Order: sequence, then C-alpha cells, then structure tokens
Amino acid sequence: MINREMIDASNLVAGVDKAFWIILSISFLFLIGLTIVMLYFVYKYNKKRHPKAVQIDGSVKLEIIWTGIPLILVMLMFYYGWKGYKPVTGPAPDGAMEITAVARMWNFQFQYENGKRTDTLYIPKDRPVKLNLKALDVIHGLSIPAFRVKSDMVPGRKDHSTWFIPQKEGKFDLFCTEYCGLNHSYMYTAAVVMPQEKFDKWYKDKSAAPVADKAAKPGAQGLALLQKTGCVACHSFNGTKLIGPTFKGIYGAKHVVKRGKEEVEITVDDEYIRKSIMDPNAEIVKGYKKGLMLSYKEQLTDKDVDLIIEYLKTLK
Ligand code: CUA
Repeated sequence: MINREMIDASNLVAGVDKAFWIILSISFLFLIGLTIVMLYFVYKYNKKRHPKAVQIDGSVKLEIIWTGIPLILVMLMFYYGWKGYKPVTGPAPDGAMEITAVARMWNFQFQYENGKRTDTLYIPKDRPVKLNLKALDVIHGLSIPAFRVKSDMVPGRKDHSTWFIPQKEGKFDLFCTEYCGLNHSYMYTAAVVMPQEKFDKWYKDKSAAPVADKAAKPGAQGLALLQKTGCVACHSFNGTKLIGPTFKGIYGAKHVVKRGKEEVEITVDDEYIRKSIMDPNAEIVKGYKKGLMLSYKEQLTDKDVDLIIEYLKTLK
C-alpha cells in the first residue's frame, strides 16, 4: 500500500507517480495477457489436437492491429512520462530559493545565498527551491526519492540546476546515485523541510555549525567540521591508512612528501595543514596517490581551518 502521506512530499510526486503506475500497469497487463495466450496456445496447438502445421499468409487486418495498439500504448507512456518530467526541465518559478549543491568525493555541501554552508539540505515548506548542481571531481547524482528528484551532477557542466516545491514537513533521504568511487555510500544525508518561520530562524542564525556541545572539548568544532565536510571518509582517527594519511598524531609528525620530483621531509604544522587543505596536490605524502583530493578553498574558510588545526592538535 502506498503511504498516502508521501504522495505530496513535493510538487513532482503526482506526475512522476502517474507515469510510473501507467507503465507498470501496461507491463502487468502484457505479462498476464501473454502468459494466458501462451498457455492457451500450448493447449490448443498441441501435437495431439493439431497434428498438421498450417501456413498462414499475410493479413492486413492483423498488421494494422498489432502496429496500432502498441503505438497507442507507447504514446500513452510517452505522454504521461513527458508530462510528469516536464516541470523539472523548465526554469524554476520566480521567487525560488537558490541553494548550490556541491558534490565531491565523498560528501555533499549545500551553500546558501547568505553564506551558510551545511551538509544537510534545510529547506522551507511550500516555497520553490532551486538547486544549482555542481560536481568538483567525478560524476555524482543527487537524489531525494520522496520528492521524486534525481539529477546527475557532471563536473564542468555549467548552469545546471533542478527545482521542486517541498510540500511536507519532515526529514527525507538524500543520497548520491552515481557510483563515484570507494566511499560512494558515504554520500548519504537528508533534506529537512521546515515551516517557513522555523526555517527563517535557522537561516538567520549566524552561529557556526550546529555543534552539539561547544564547550565540551577543545577542538569540538573542528571535529564537527571534519565530519561535516566529509574529510573522515578518507582520513582515519585510529591510525588506519585509508585514501589519505591518518589524523592520529598528525600534528607535529614528520612526513616525507613529494614536492615535484624531490622527496622532502617536513614537519606537520599549521602552515602545512593549511596548504594541504587548500592546495592538496602540491605536496603528496610518500605512499599516497596524487589527484584524489581537491582543494577545499570554496568549502572551508580560514577560520574553519583554524578550528580544524586546533582539533588535530588534540589527536595524540
Ligand atoms: Cu557521489 Cu556516488
């Protein structure tokens, strides 16, 4: 049974679902119809009852019927499919709230016009939302199944966007639907739909990331940033070698890095960490691959990096 409540989670649901049910019904009709005809023929044209095969010559009537009916069915599927899909292809309605969704290996970031940046998509109810889609490294896909929103994010593609009107409060799955490498499954977050007043309050709140307990531990905000920005997909806290070097004991450690053709020993300090985040491929720690990390220039501010450094210092 379909959950009636999900039906209107966005303005796109009705059209997409209609096309889905029509196509599914036609498919089932054929499955059942063909199976019945097949069984009937097996019975009727069994060798015992029908020992001699008959040659049938062309029949104009049959040709018309079996061209005409499928044509109608296919056009019906096309019509409803197109009708359900069309709103997405057009420009977003006036007054839409613009949010830029940035995908990279392996996290999403949502950037709001007032400078707010989050790892979860917060949106107001009943207001059109225009998502500008940006992929930094490889092809990702942004999907919010409850809203029937699904769009590939292709690196280098300019002015690509999608839009929808959230119509139901709540938290909905949002994830990547293009296999984009080892930790593709980490690209899993949520779209949170709030009433307009609650959203406005959240939107205007200038305080940094909603960190649970700011006073808890030195660097707690830095940790929150590392998690939110997806750094932990590639850098472990426990010494395990993942895509990049572990964070454990990283501050003050000595690393051999490749700088161009040279191998140089460096000590990990503030300056080195800042450079590794903003220009990661300038120096690669020996034993790791170049090109897997891209600059976080657009996702982290200098202050964010300070908070991260403060946290890394605590990882002995
Ligand atoms: Cu990004 Cu899969």
